[in-house]
Amino acid sequence: MDATLGFAGHSFPAAQQLGSDGLLIGIDQDEVALAAASRRLDELPEGARPTVKLLHGNFGDLDELLLGCAIPGIDAILFDLGVSSVQIDTPARGFSFKEKAPLDMRMDPGTQTLTAAEILNTYDAADLARIIRAYSDERWASRIAEFIVHARAARPFETSDQLVDVVKAAIPASARRAGGHPAKRTFQALRIEVNGELDVLRRGLEAAIRWLNPGGRIAVLSYHSLEDRIVKDAFARLADRCTCPPDLPVCLCGKQPIVDLVTRKPLVPTPEEIARNPRARSAKLRVAEKR
Ligand SMILES: C[S@@+](CC[C@H](N)C(=O)[O-])C[C@H]1O[C@@H](n2cnc3c(N)ncnc32)[C@H](O)[C@@H]1O
Repeated sequence: MDATLGFAGHSFPAAQQLGSDGLLIGIDQDEVALAAASRRLDELPEGARPTVKLLHGNFGDLDELLLGCAIPGIDAILFDLGVSSVQIDTPARGFSFKEKAPLDMRMDPGTQTLTAAEILNTYDAADLARIIRAYSDERWASRIAEFIVHARAARPFETSDQLVDVVKAAIPASARRAGGHPAKRTFQALRIEVNGELDVLRRGLEAAIRWLNPGGRIAVLSYHSLEDRIVKDAFARLADRCTCPPDLPVCLCGKQPIVDLVTRKPLVPTPEEIARNPRARSAKLRVAEKR
């Protein structure tokens, strides 16, 4: 199961390996991605193609999504978190700070209603500062929040260039020179808030591990420290062994590990891979195996 199918960059080679006996389940909350992935997977020759079930929805609702598949369990699960390159590179989706575009950022515009513009135009300064700080570690979060509230009184936020200008004005010139594009962190924070990304990740991981067959593996690729922390903590909690003092004759804590960690430390891309694909720069891969 590919819980973040995107454009089938991972699922296409996985489908080739599965062959005609296999079942590939692909999930994405973005219907555009799902349609493109479907076309791509259709390119596989009929006799070499696994049964493919593509599901439109949020992996935070994994149980509901999988109920219709009538399967007892899953052997391999991948989460490749965040937005796809295609989503970032489509200005109309509003994910990029590099293009003038509507401040949207919904991964599933068909069912979600909250947009980045609505957050910028309605949250109070304290809430704006809280999400910007919590979801991006932005040191100037309070100042950016104050500048946003001030700017929207004159003109409500509609497009990404307005937000870029306000963030640039809020961050002192000396601090603006370090740490990449000054608006990068604020855009990340808004995207996480619009899509409730951290909450759905916690729910999705927990459900995915329940669906894994014994010996099955879950692999998660994350791209920022908040996501990686959630994955690390979820795996560590489920790999937890008995914590009773060693001199106790019998276990009283009752803790049984549910997974084994395949990667104690996350795998990260090599310098050559980063040179080939700069967007892999922040990737961390963690893998666990169900007992
Ligand atoms: C980094 S991209 C995956 C790219 C894919 N591995 C590929 O090679 O083409 C993440 C994808 O997951 C989707 N996605 C992100 N969060 C999701 C969620 N909570 N539920 C379902 N899909 C999600 C996004 O719409 C996006 O298409």
